[in-house]
Amino acid sequence: MTKILMVATGNPGKLQEMQAYLADSGWELILKPEELEIEETGDTFAANACLKASQVAQATGNWTIADDSGLQVDALHGAPGVYSARYGKTDSDRIARLLHELGDEINRQAQFVCVVAIATPNGAIVLQSEGICRGEILSASRGDGGFGYDPIFYVPEKQLTFAEMTPELKRSLSHRGKAFTALLPQLEALK
Ligand code: IMP
Repeated sequence: MTKILMVATGNPGKLQEMQAYLADSGWELILKPEELEIEETGDTFAANACLKASQVAQATGNWTIADDSGLQVDALHGAPGVYSARYGKTDSDRIARLLHELGDEINRQAQFVCVVAIATPNGAIVLQSEGICRGEILSASRGDGGFGYDPIFYVPEKQLTFAEMTPELKRSLSHRGKAFTALLPQLEALK
């Protein structure tokens, strides 16, 4: 029997992306009720993923999956980190602020991090998975694909920014792709 897994996000784009990762998992994904909003009060990606999964599960009585992600820049001591989405009003504001704060710093090393958490219907966290993708921050945007900080995040092994990659290539090396790939076998075992 197919089991239902609620996605603790208000973003239909994220539901679609999770569906692509979990297509063969045997779980049917549904979106959380719009009116149920969970504030991200944690100071780590793991804390935020767990609190979103746990609170939505308890409120709805469903198995629930949540993720939290962001960009950590080495020379900025890990900023913007859990504040990545709140670093500015729009993607271009956030990129401009980051480039301004980094200035002409020589150390451009950075990483994207994603933590995914699964909660049982009573809110207990049973699975957690983390994915990391290392890269470098360029001094100007390159590419039109993706979202968020993608145009300034350069992956040296591919000589491309996330925004210059096909969605398939980005999925295969991204923080989110790695977190979901690691989770899949354990999620299948839970069915
Ligand atoms: P959240 O996981 O929905 O809280 O969003 C985290 C924020 O981190 C997003 O709004 C983006 O600004 C940034 N972010 C997370 N993953 C990516 C990515 O794959 N590319 C670009 N930006 C990302």
